[in-house]
Amino acid sequence: MKTFLASLLVSTSLASHAAAPADPIVPGKDYHSYADTNAFRVKHLDLDLSASFDEQRLSGVADLTVTRVSPDARDLVLDTRDLVIRQAWWLRGPADLVPLRHTIGVRDPMLGAPLTLNLTPEMSGPEFTVRISYQTRPEASGLQWVPAPLTADKTHPFLFTQSQAIHARSWIPLQDTPQVRHTFTATLRVPPGMRAVMGAESASNPLELAADGVYKFSMPQPIPAYLIALGIGKLEFRATGARTGVYAEPSVVEAAAKEFAETEQMMQVSEKLFGPYRWGRYDLLILPPSFPFGGMENPRLSFITPTVIAGDRSLTSLIAHELAHSWSGNLVTNATWRDLWLNEGFTVYLQGRIMEAVYGARRNAMEETLDLAILRDELATHPKPDQILAIDLRGRDPDDAFTQIPYIKGHLFLSWLRSRFGEDVLDKFLQTYFDAFEFRSISTELFREYLEANLLPQKPGAVTAAELDEWMYQPGLPKNAVLPHSDAFQLVDAARREFLGGKTAAADLPGKSWTTHEWVHFIDGLPAKVPADKLAALDEAFGLTNVGNSEIAFSWLRVAIANEYSPAYPRLDSYLTGIGRRKLIKPLYEDLMKTPAGAERARAIYTRARPGYHPIATATLDAIIYKDAKR
Ligand code: BES
Ligand code: ZN
Repeated sequence: MKTFLASLLVSTSLASHAAAPADPIVPGKDYHSYADTNAFRVKHLDLDLSASFDEQRLSGVADLTVTRVSPDARDLVLDTRDLVIRQAWWLRGPADLVPLRHTIGVRDPMLGAPLTLNLTPEMSGPEFTVRISYQTRPEASGLQWVPAPLTADKTHPFLFTQSQAIHARSWIPLQDTPQVRHTFTATLRVPPGMRAVMGAESASNPLELAADGVYKFSMPQPIPAYLIALGIGKLEFRATGARTGVYAEPSVVEAAAKEFAETEQMMQVSEKLFGPYRWGRYDLLILPPSFPFGGMENPRLSFITPTVIAGDRSLTSLIAHELAHSWSGNLVTNATWRDLWLNEGFTVYLQGRIMEAVYGARRNAMEETLDLAILRDELATHPKPDQILAIDLRGRDPDDAFTQIPYIKGHLFLSWLRSRFGEDVLDKFLQTYFDAFEFRSISTELFREYLEANLLPQKPGAVTAAELDEWMYQPGLPKNAVLPHSDAFQLVDAARREFLGGKTAAADLPGKSWTTHEWVHFIDGLPAKVPADKLAALDEAFGLTNVGNSEIAFSWLRVAIANEYSPAYPRLDSYLTGIGRRKLIKPLYEDLMKTPAGAERARAIYTRARPGYHPIATATLDAIIYKDAKR
């Protein structure tokens, strides 16, 4: 009940998305859902789905228990995208199914199609349950059916979901808006030899396969639809602590457990700083390399790209990030996608606090400094309206409109508050904030009110309203921002200068002792054009073309493309065909597209790579590769 009442604090509105951008934004209004949250709110979902890899579809029923908000609402409108809806019923009682009329509206390319259930007059009570029988289509945007040859072990296919931001509707008919939260239970039926996992409590022993292929789950905490997640594959489990572990394909599980052995320690740091972990276990699922993101904070089970298994734990900030979402994002959730910075900016701040405690200030300063370079780049390449923390996404697909700005500028906003109020005060404030809004979804405006009521009085005059306005509602980076600084990088800068100026030979650079971060900074700081002999000398001394670390390789391949350094081309090819993490491949394709010869190379590689990419990645990449050519 508490959650329901609390959710009314978010001002919601009639389902409509076609507002012209010139109209003022209604805070808390979700422009990316057909659901009318003033009429009904889903409070529980029960799924029973079978997975067919041959047909590439999930098929079964979703039972939605719905709370009535408006006494006279007659139609229940749900979000769908490319679902095949077979039939709908009212579950009047156990084994008492009353058929309901349903209609599917016009499909919008971005939002999908509304599914309207016409309720019977008898369904006027405060709560009812409907059953929808349906199946997904092979092209469902939130699913990737990975064929066996594209998995790590190549023995079994793999299925995984990616529901954020608005893809849950492509595999479940529901109110796909982050301001509706509900519990769920699920039964999944999968082929023999495979395991199903969900971001939920599992009823089965992680060390044994279910002989009948049936797996049951329950999520007792209310969550938004974008956090519903499922994976099916040939999966093994290794514990890394009492409440942490990894699921991965057999050939990956050992390396993953080693790489992420510090997860329990990260949890302890987080709990000390931000309050109890509310979700029971925290496991990781390592996905096939085509997973389009670095990580996804599905509750109890973060989904993780294998590209961060570097062998030296140098890319574990991703785990700190996804874990931190257990507070910022999963516990306190952005009410709409405009408010994404409340999820991501806060999470990057928490991530930094965790990283500093576990790995020390030196490494964290390097990571924050690398982030700052990314932010500067984003600010230089995005129009002013998109430089604001709370982005106006009306009429736009969140997949295309999200940038690193809400992440890194959001982080710097909190770092700036820390500089004015002190670290202890800010950490305590955040803990209070997570407690105050736990299991609720809030808007930027509600956060601002909370900040004014709870942080500002702790040190009157420490910040002005005008300063807050600038951070929250103006483009660019405020002049008073407190920027990260890394001494280690200054040494790298000096080494780079000596190398470029011909004073130090490549082989004499201190690169052998550099960490991943120092290497990335060194390479990213090279000028646009580097003489071929210098690139060859670096490559010769440090084997950069064949480096296994996905981030160092990424930076190096960008330099290779810009300088037409052909010895790296085979590696570029295998990199782009071997991984599908959008952040690591999109810039490489964009770089290639800048010259005619590069564009030809990009198209040739993309033709081969595309069948292995996720629908979210191909949607982005198609627009880049086919921008002036007909397919
Ligand atoms: N929740 C995000 C991923 C996401 C955001 C998916 C918006 C769809 C829409 C996740 O927590 C994230 O931010 N991942 C980052 C890594 C992070 C360390 C910055 C990524 O995938 O690169
Ligand atoms: Zn995130």
